Amino acid sequence: MKLDKVHLVFFSPTRTSRKIGEAIVRGTGLKCIEMSDLTGKPAIGQEFGADTLVVVACPVYGGHIPPLALSRMEGLHASGTPAVAVVVYGNRAYEHALQELDSLLAAKGFRVIAAGTFIGEHSYSTERHPIAAGRPDAKDLEEAALLGRRVMEKLRKAGGADMAGRVDVSRIRKPRQPFFHLLRFIYKVTRMRKSGQPMPSTPAVDADLCTHCGHCAAVCPNEAIAKGDECHTRADRCIRCCACVKGCPQKARSFDTPFAGLLSENFRYRKANEVIL
Ligand SMILES: Cc1cc2nc3c(=O)[nH]c(=O)nc-3n(C[C@H](O)[C@H](O)[C@H](O)COP(=O)(O)O)c2cc1C
Ligand code: SF4
Ligand code: SF4
Repeated sequence: MKLDKVHLVFFSPTRTSRKIGEAIVRGTGLKCIEMSDLTGKPAIGQEFGADTLVVVACPVYGGHIPPLALSRMEGLHASGTPAVAVVVYGNRAYEHALQELDSLLAAKGFRVIAAGTFIGEHSYSTERHPIAAGRPDAKDLEEAALLGRRVMEKLRKAGGADMAGRVDVSRIRKPRQPFFHLLRFIYKVTRMRKSGQPMPSTPAVDADLCTHCGHCAAVCPNEAIAKGDECHTRADRCIRCCACVKGCPQKARSFDTPFAGLLSENFRYRKANEVIL
């Protein structure tokens, strides 16, 4: 069957996964582009056939796909549809995330013919504690676009969407990680946990700065902030994605986790994006 459409599916509170996904889609050169933004709402009974290439991009939380993203993808269904699985992480590690995304897509009937692990600015990154700040940058986006081009080449060489082989995502090249920094990070995190230092469960709000513009409530992926009551955050719904922090035009919201300093200090070394196809 002729493949003439590309559909980008993403969950992306701080928009880095979205940017990578969009660059991959651009790289395919396909003119018919559709998008499903699952950041704020779930997919409902969405069916894909073999005439569409589906690119799925989402972030890594604690080495996993965020449970909210997985639940948002429950309503996706495919019948042998070729897919590109992409995880975006904040320069620390992605651990189980790519495997989890691959398994979910396979269970939904997709054939994962390519995959990528890309770097995005860490949700906890601030001016004081930069962590992969500004990524994806121009180089990252060029590499993402190249993945899109290479996927189309693979499909052409295979002689059709249904002929392109699945990839074994466990064989993707792992990023280089300076050993000493990793050890120091593990040591400091263990010490911090043992000390019983309290961790913030939601971003803090400076009520003097808040103008009640409602932007944070609009970008929150899990309805943790109610419009009109923006200085209050529901801890039971907050996934600590920092979309509200990064999006607040008054800088009224902050998420001061002690992890930010440790991540900034120990994961300075620029990790490379990796792809497999
Ligand atoms: C709760 C939480 C946990 C995270 N865990 C990891 C992690 O385990 N490894 C990592 O490298 N980055 C981690 N990050 C950073 C995100 O993966 C990274 O910022 C990603 O680019 C965010 O994607 P988005 O912009 O599409 O929301 C975490 C971020 C949050 C909010
Ligand atoms: S985005 Fe900032 S200024 Fe606007 S309502 Fe939320 S906290 Fe207040
Ligand atoms: S309130 Fe929590 S879940 Fe909502 S945008 Fe802010 S950090 Fe993310």
